[in-house]
Amino acid sequence: MKKFILLVALGFFVGLFAKDSLAIKVFKGYCWGCHHQTAQAFGPSFKEIANKRKKDEIIAQITDPKDTYKILGYKRNSMPSFNDLNASELNAIVGYILSFKDKK
Ligand code: HEC
Repeated sequence: MKKFILLVALGFFVGLFAKDSLAIKVFKGYCWGCHHQTAQAFGPSFKEIANKRKKDEIIAQITDPKDTYKILGYKRNSMPSFNDLNASELNAIVGYILSFKDKK
């Protein structure tokens, strides 16, 4: 029984770590030239995005900025689209962005 609990706990932490590092990989590979986690860069910070957008809006902007920038209130679209990210990469990066949301 003890062994079992240990294994489950281990699996949980490995899972957490793997998910995080996938998000970091996507972030460093595709986003951090223009976005910073908490500071304004060429694009808005992830903290700002997390505080004003829903998951769907964030996904739409990443995969289809040409169709989404107007809905989000921008005059022009300066962000390239990343529609070659697979579902787990997309999920990981959206979760990462939303993790910067202020706790109320
Ligand atoms: C070439 C620079 C550039 C890259 C690379 C880039 N972005 Fe952006 N992003 C922008 C800019 C600039 C905006 C503001 C909208 C505009 O001007 O098109 C933006 C806007 C956004 C928004 C919407 C902001 C809002 O108001 O809600 C999200 C979400 C976003 N980016 C996520 C990402 C993610 C995730 C990546 C990496 C996969 C990424 N961006 C890569 C430049 C970039």
